Amino acid sequence: MIGSAQAGADISITGLGVKVPDRVMTNDELSQFVDTSDEWIRERTGIRERRIASDEEALSDLALPATRDALAMAGVDPKDVDLVIVATVTPDMMFPSTAALIADAIGAADAAAYDLSAGCTGFMYALAQAYGMLAGGLAHRALVVGGDVLSRLFDWTDRSTLVLFGDGAGAVVLESVPEQGFLGFELGADGGGGESLWLPGSGSRNFEEPDRHIKMNGREVFKFATRVLVQSAQDILAKCDMTIEDVDLYIPHQANVRIIDHATRKLGFPSEKVVINVDRYGNTSSGSIPLGLADALADGRLQKGQIVLMTGMGAGLTWGSALMRWTMDAAA
Ligand code: ACO
Repeated sequence: MIGSAQAGADISITGLGVKVPDRVMTNDELSQFVDTSDEWIRERTGIRERRIASDEEALSDLALPATRDALAMAGVDPKDVDLVIVATVTPDMMFPSTAALIADAIGAADAAAYDLSAGCTGFMYALAQAYGMLAGGLAHRALVVGGDVLSRLFDWTDRSTLVLFGDGAGAVVLESVPEQGFLGFELGADGGGGESLWLPGSGSRNFEEPDRHIKMNGREVFKFATRVLVQSAQDILAKCDMTIEDVDLYIPHQANVRIIDHATRKLGFPSEKVVINVDRYGNTSSGSIPLGLADALADGRLQKGQIVLMTGMGAGLTWGSALMRWTMDAAA
């Protein structure tokens, strides 16, 4: 694990944008494909509906509008962006990277651009990387995108995975600010548990493997997720000399309401401090935390000066937290 690094530089999020596909797919619609029901899905996951990309929509089609909104909110000229990181497991294609495509599309000429693979934790890893690059003086203005079009990896005959996921993306701008934004990060991985969540035909190991659909041992992932959500939050708070009471807003990865409820109870967060969007979007992988930030900003729960704890977990198996003070004015 990257030991709960306590951030020292004054770097923060200065712009945020999100985008989900227009197409809403309800639980009832899914029951046309597999033997399931709205009642089962709501009870076991809290999901009511999710967004599904059209055949023509690739990740960059979601990430680009999110990126443009984030830049506009930050008041940043795309030409001044010198680093673009896209956290995803569903890039438009393996190469060129979706980050390079986005940098080109927005006119961030010569920006360093790459995709990052850390499953649903990707956005947290990408935030930490961008923070480190800015703090180290290697870059000055970073664009961090988290997003996935997981519907491309659905097995439409497998009820154990089909009902859980959805599509969506979010983007943030990271810059130096007068006050301290990010307070710390905590990242880790357990490759030994990787076999609990995997994509058989997806790389050089089994390149000819025809099965290109998500496989998951739900119970193992459930156990892992409930454990690391709690552990990672406790670790980062301890390293930053803070407690649960100091946190104004908690944005956990949106995999399943039962997982979130478990972590929330163990950690002792009152429900009004917890952001939930899995009911409307399903598990959007790297998109879930930026989508949560956008919800909290829109409903007024995210205010300047508030302490925000974000924790992701996912394939790898990976986990990661970021603790920050929100530095943007409400009017931004
Ligand atoms: N509809 C109806 N029945 C179903 C469905 C479905 N969609 N899926 C499974 N079932 C059945 C099973 O076949 C089983 O039937 P049986 O008792 O006759 O054998 C029964 O429901 C119970 O199955 P379980 O797998 O024990 O159900 P569980 O309560 O564990 O819930 C779930 C399954 C929702 C997948 C849960 O394990 C879970 O949320 N795991 C975490 C997985 C996750 O969130 N992954 C996301 C990716 S990773 C990440 O983001 C961290």
